[in-house]
Amino acid sequence: MSAQVIDGKAYAEGLRQRVAVAVGQLKATHKLTPGLAVVLVGEDPASQVYVRNKHKQTIEAGMESFEHRLPASTPEAELLALVDKLNQDPSVHGILVQLPLPAQIDANKVINSINPDKDVDGFHVVNAGRLATGQDSLVPCTPKGCVMLAKDKLGDLTGLEAVVIGRSNIVGKPVAQLLIAESCTVTIAHSKTKNLADVVRRADLVIAAVGRPEMVKGSWIKPGACVIDVGINRVEVDGKGKLVGDCDYASCAQVAGSITPVPGGVGPMTIACLLRNTLHAACALNGIAMPKL
Ligand code: GUN
Repeated sequence: MSAQVIDGKAYAEGLRQRVAVAVGQLKATHKLTPGLAVVLVGEDPASQVYVRNKHKQTIEAGMESFEHRLPASTPEAELLALVDKLNQDPSVHGILVQLPLPAQIDANKVINSINPDKDVDGFHVVNAGRLATGQDSLVPCTPKGCVMLAKDKLGDLTGLEAVVIGRSNIVGKPVAQLLIAESCTVTIAHSKTKNLADVVRRADLVIAAVGRPEMVKGSWIKPGACVIDVGINRVEVDGKGKLVGDCDYASCAQVAGSITPVPGGVGPMTIACLLRNTLHAACALNGIAMPKL
């Protein structure tokens, strides 16, 4: 058997187009242009690529993009002052501080200084709490993208056994919350889980977010399961750089019913969901109903 390939790139393009249409309507009807501020501290190469893509896709969606680049030596107080300025700025509806931050800056302190209603990453404790308690919240982008792809492929997720591998605040924990909200039976596995292969073998839906190249093998997968691979790992093959996921694609694709490739699976969904969150924030901050996308 060979798994169906879940085309996250195509799904993300469609979502970005729907966001762009809604932005056009918001401008025409309410004279409101959603604005996203992205703050990059330092010169981490992967972060620079993300920030450049975010800027480009924000403009393409018809939104305003405000980029703030600060040196790696920036003191924490200076970053907090910038966030405060963005919190006060009515043309900024979404604020994203790119992670990781340099060692002298307490990332949690910075994230929790963002107005929760402008926190388009959904990382603020208030948004994590709202998500965990089933209240309307800004939801982390990569987890939202995973669940959108799973629902697009499987339809209703009610009653499915979902195994999340990884317990990070950015992916593992929030994706587990979203799956609980979809009425899945959710297990969160991680690096200390005993008999991980046996745990994963129970899953109708596997979300791999561990950050270890090709760790999940085909022999771990229940035949027909849906595999969502969040990993983006750069490895050297024959002296050349290559991107691989947390799943061993070749063996998993032989057993799974459907699987996301790397690249072209979950990756493109993150920015598409970020744009959706920025639209959501712009509407909510102005008392306008969020359009259905
Ligand atoms: N670094 C890697 N992924 C992300 C993300 O989704 N948001 C932010 N702010 N930083 C990141």
